[in-house]
This record gives sequence, C-alpha cells and structure tokens, in this order.
Amino acid sequence: MTIVSRGLAALTLCAALAAITGCENAPGYPRTVEVDRPEHQLDFHTLYSQNCAGCHGDNGRGGAALPLNNPALLAIAGTDHLRSVASKGVKGSLMPAFAASSSGMLTDQQIDAIVQGMMREWSKPSAVAGTALPPWAVGPGNATDGAPVYQAACARCHGTNGTGTSSAGHSIVDSAYLALVDDQSLHTVIAAGHPESSTPDWRSYLAGGRALTAQQIDDLVAWLASHRASASTSAPSGSPAGVAAPASPSMTPSIRKEKP
Ligand code: HEC
Ligand code: HEC
Repeated sequence: MTIVSRGLAALTLCAALAAITGCENAPGYPRTVEVDRPEHQLDFHTLYSQNCAGCHGDNGRGGAALPLNNPALLAIAGTDHLRSVASKGVKGSLMPAFAASSSGMLTDQQIDAIVQGMMREWSKPSAVAGTALPPWAVGPGNATDGAPVYQAACARCHGTNGTGTSSAGHSIVDSAYLALVDDQSLHTVIAAGHPESSTPDWRSYLAGGRALTAQQIDDLVAWLASHRASASTSAPSGSPAGVAAPASPSMTPSIRKEKP
C-alpha cells in the first residue's frame, strides 16, 4: 500500500468510527480522554486532542491528515480561514464540521480556543517573514503553463512524470489519489508544504531561492488536476500530449469528491 492509500484507509476507518465513538476512542488510538464535552471547556490541548488529534496527529504532526503544526500553513490560512474550516468542515472530504451551527458539537468559543491555541503554539511569524504569502484560496490556473513549473520545482522528488521516485515513493498523478483531493487541498500542500515529509513550501522549490508566484501555484494545481480521470472533466485543451486525463468512465473511483 502506498503512503497515501494507507493514510486514506486510516482516515476512512477513523471517520466511520468517529460517527459512533469519536476518533479519539478508535482502537489503537494512543490515548483515551474520558471527558464529556462541557461547553465551558476552553483549554486548547483538551479540545485539540478530543477533536482534531485523531486525524491531524498529536501536537499537529504525524496524523493521516495534513499536519497543522506548520507555520507556513497557519500563516497562509490565517485565523479567519482556520475558524471557518473548523466550523464548517471541508465539503466532500473527511474533514468534519465542528460548529453547533453546522450540527457539530463545539461552540463558537471553543472553536476560537482551538484556532487561537494553534496560532499561539504552532505559528511562527518569523519563520515566514520576508516573502509575500501566497493567497490561501486556489485560483484559475493553466495546465500547460504548469508543466514546466512542475519540471523545475517538483520533478526532482516526484519524477519527470509525477509518477514518483524512490525518495517520494507514491505517484501524485494517480487518478485514484487525485479523485480524493480537491484543487484547494492540492493548493494547500503546494503552498504550505508538508513538513514531515521534507516537502518544501512555496518559497523553496525553485533553485536560486525564488519563491513560486501565486500564478505558478495555480498552474501547478491545474497541471496536477489535468490528470484526474473523470468523464465530466475533460483535460484543458492546451494540455500537452500525454498529460490528458484518461477518459474511461470505469476508471472513475466511486468515492469521488463533490465539487464545493
Ligand atoms: C475525521 C478526520 C478529521 C478530523 C477529526 C479533523 N480533520 Fe481537519 N482535515 C481532515 C482532512 C481529510 C483534511 C483535508 C481536507 C481536504 O481534502 O481539503 C483536513 C483539513 C483541515 C484543514 C485545512 C483545510 C484546507 O482548506 O486545506 C484545517 C485547517 C483543519 N483540517 C483543521 C482541523 C481542526 C482544527 C480539527 C479539530 C477541531 C480537525 N481539522 C479535525 C480530516 C480531519
Ligand atoms: C524534496 C522533495 C520534494 C519536493 C521538491 C516536492 N515534494 Fe511533494 N512530496 C514529497 C514527499 C516525500 C511526499 C510524501 C508525503 C506523504 O505522503 O506523507 C510528498 C507528497 C506530495 C503530495 C501528496 C500530499 C498528500 O496529500 O499526502 C503532493 C500533492 C505533492 N507532494 C506535490 C508536490 C508538488 C506539486 C511539488 C512541486 C511544487 C512537490 N510536491 C515537490 C517530497 C517532495
């Protein structure tokens, strides 16, 4: 199993169990915190470990979902976006909605305590100072323009076709993988990096210390997205030969994400 499919399998199991017991009580989960959820609980560590650690890892690292203990991610997202994601979840993904107003179990105050806690403990403005931050939201990109950016920024680890190398084993152009992540998540991974896997962030992919521009990130997302197998999404017309998405509908995994 690849790293990604193992991660996704763990998440799926976790999400199934969460419906019954809450992720933190899943078998194999390192700790069981037997606390009911009093609305006055405002301690960051308690709230984080009860609600987020099961997927995002203890202390924001080492979970099956993306590491939140990442100064670049926290800086690019900012408190407003973090609050909105924690409240409403990510539609079509395993990221749940936590706000009582979205049928979650947390008050707005508790969500705020989690967001402020992540910012207080894990953000590090000095680590991202000096380079303009890319926007959080993915914008329109061009797959053709993304192809050379991919070669310059990503191929050394992910291989010239994106199908992986021994250092970054799995393929990032696999249609089953791409069916499970939306463009926003790809944008997040490229912009903010993945500190546990030595995936750089937007500042350090290119030689010579040049940061990726916002447009280059969007073009990279478009290039990756052009590999999605989907009957409904045809590859962009400018897509280079060999990059067009396979058209066979039978390749379309059944667990497709909804478009937000
Ligand atoms: C059941 C697993 C699960 C739990 C529990 C969970 N998350 Fe997530 N989270 C995910 C997944 C999966 C993603 C990636 C979603 C996607 O495809 O964009 C994610 C993404 C995120 C993102 C990035 C969103 C983006 O726009 O890229 C943030 C921020 C986040 N989660 C915060 C939290 C916080 C805070 C908590 C606890 C209150 C939490 N998550 C609990 C699974 C989970
Ligand atoms: C220094 C090596 C390195 C470079 C350069 C690099 N990556 Fe990665 N990347 C990795 C490794 C290692 C992983 C495996 C992370 C994991 O699955 O835990 C990864 C994972 C990913 C993932 C999957 C994340 C997930 O959801 O699990 C995507 C998408 C990705 N990289 C895109 C890119 C793109 C696009 C670029 C170029 C802008 C890039 N990477 C450059 C090493 C690299």
